[in-house]
Amino acid sequence: MENYLNKLYEERRSIYHLGNHSRLTEQQITEIITLALKFCPSAFNSQSARVVILYGSYYQKLWDIVLTELDKIVPDNKIQQTKEKINTFKTGIGTILFFEDQNTIENLQQQFPLYAENFPLWSLQSNGMLQYMIWLALKEKQLGASLQHYNPLIDHEVKLAFDLPEHWKLLAQMPFGSIEQPADEKSFLPMEERLKVFG
Ligand SMILES: Cc1cc2nc3c(=O)[nH]c(=O)nc-3n(C[C@H](O)[C@H](O)[C@H](O)COP(=O)(O)O)c2cc1C
Repeated sequence: MENYLNKLYEERRSIYHLGNHSRLTEQQITEIITLALKFCPSAFNSQSARVVILYGSYYQKLWDIVLTELDKIVPDNKIQQTKEKINTFKTGIGTILFFEDQNTIENLQQQFPLYAENFPLWSLQSNGMLQYMIWLALKEKQLGASLQHYNPLIDHEVKLAFDLPEHWKLLAQMPFGSIEQPADEKSFLPMEERLKVFG
C-alpha cells in the first residue's frame, strides 16, 4: 500500500492501442471522471474546467470530425496514414474533451485586475492537473489513455455537433479504453539536470 501511488505514477503511460473491454460500466467511468472534475484544484477555486465525455456513436462522431477536418489540410499522399492513425482512436471505449470556460476567466480578470495576466495561465495549469488526475484515475482502473490535440482545427465542428457554448475553449482530447498493447520503453533525463534540493 505504501508504494501504491509511486507505482501508479510509473504505470500511467500514453496508450495508443485501445480496446473496448472494461469491468466498468460507462456510468462508473463517468463517476470516476466526475470525481476528478469536482476535486481538481483551480485558481481562486474558480472551477473553470469543463468536460464532455463521449461514448458510443458520439465518440465515433468526434473522430469522424477530426478526420473530415484533417482531410481538408493533409496532402493526398499522407491522408491514408492519417486515416489509419485516427482510426486507432476509435477502437476504445470513449473520449474525454477538456475545455476551459473563458467567461469564468474574464469575470475573474474584471474582479481582480491585479492578477489579470495570470488567470489564463492558471486556467491552463489547472486544466492540466485535471487531465493528469483523470489519466491516473483511469489507469488505476486498468484503462489506458492518451492525450491528443486536434484543437483548434476541430473547435467549430465540435461545438456544433455537441451543442456546446461558444465560450468553452477546447484544450485537449483524451481517447481511452482497455490496454491492448503496453507503451514502449521510456527514457528519462538524469535527475541532477532537473532537480535541485537545498537544505
Ligand atoms: C501537455 C501535453 C501534450 C501532449 N500532446 C500530445 C499529443 O498531441 N499527441 C500525443 O500522442 N501525445 C501527446 N502527449 C503525450 C506525451 O507525448 C507523453 O506523455 C510523453 O511522451 C511521455 O510518455 P508517457 O505518457 O507514456 O509517459 C502530450 C503530453 C502532454 C503532457
